[in-house]
Amino acid sequence: MARRRQIYEGKAKVLFEGPEPGTIVQYFKDDATAFNNKKKGTITGKGVLNNRISEFLMMRLGEMGVPTHFLRRLNMREQLIRQVEIVPVEVIIRNVAAGSISKRLGIEEGTPLPRSIVEYCYKNDELDDPLIAEEHVTAFGWATPQELDEILALSLRINDYLSGMFYGIGLKLVDFKLEFGRLWENEQMRIVLADEISPDSCRLWDVSTNEKMDKDRFRRDLGSVEEAYQEVARRLGILPESGPADLKGPEAVQ
Ligand code: TMP
Repeated sequence: MARRRQIYEGKAKVLFEGPEPGTIVQYFKDDATAFNNKKKGTITGKGVLNNRISEFLMMRLGEMGVPTHFLRRLNMREQLIRQVEIVPVEVIIRNVAAGSISKRLGIEEGTPLPRSIVEYCYKNDELDDPLIAEEHVTAFGWATPQELDEILALSLRINDYLSGMFYGIGLKLVDFKLEFGRLWENEQMRIVLADEISPDSCRLWDVSTNEKMDKDRFRRDLGSVEEAYQEVARRLGILPESGPADLKGPEAVQ
C-alpha cells in the first residue's frame, strides 16, 4: 500500500492526507511539550487517551449542534477529520484563575472568575503564541468580525456544555483552549471547531480535592501524569475496554 503523505507534524499530533479529498487523518503522539517546546517529554499512552477523549467530546458537542471537524475514529491513535483552514487564533476560555492569567494579573490560582473570560492568542510558535486583542484579529485579517462573533458564540456554548458535563463526573473545567477552522461546502463557508479537546488543552481539577488532572502535572513535574489522563478517560467511561494495558496496543495502520 502506498505510504500516506504527511501534511504536517505538530508537537502532539501528525496530520496525513486522508482517504478521500477534503479529509485528513489526525494521529495522536505520546509526545508532550510545555512552555512552547522548552520542556519536552513523553506521556505513555497519552495519544491513545487523547484520541478517545477528543472523539468523545467532539461527538457530544456535534450532537448538540456545534459543528466540528471530527468525522470518525479510525483506530487507537488516529481519527478522520475534515480538512479545514485553521484560523490562526487560539481561543482560551477561563472559569477559574490559573496559569498565565494568575501570573499576568496577580490573581491567586483557584480564584473563581466573576464571569467566564475569553482570551485570544496569535497562533505562532516563533512568537510564543502572544496574547492579542480582538482588534488584532480583525485588523490583521486573521478572522473577519463575523467569523470572530461566530467563534465567540461557539466558544461560550462549548464552555457551558463542557463545564456541566465535566462537573457531572466530578471535574472542574478551570480553563481550556480551542481552535477553529473554515470549512467550505458548496461555495458556503462555515466556522467549525477543530484541533482537539483533551487534558493537553484543558485544566481539569477534581471537584472535591482540587487535584490537577491535566497537563499541568507534566508542566509542573507533579508526577502521576499518565494516571491523571487515564482517570479523566475512566470518568468519561471511555477507557479502552481491558484497561490501561490496551494503551500500548497495536500502532496505527491504514
Ligand atoms: P495558560 O494559562 O498557560 O494561558 O493556558 C490556558 C489554557 O490553555 C490551559 O488549559 C492550557 C491551554 N493551552 C493550550 O492548550 N496550548 C497552549 O499553547 C497554551 C499556552 C495553553
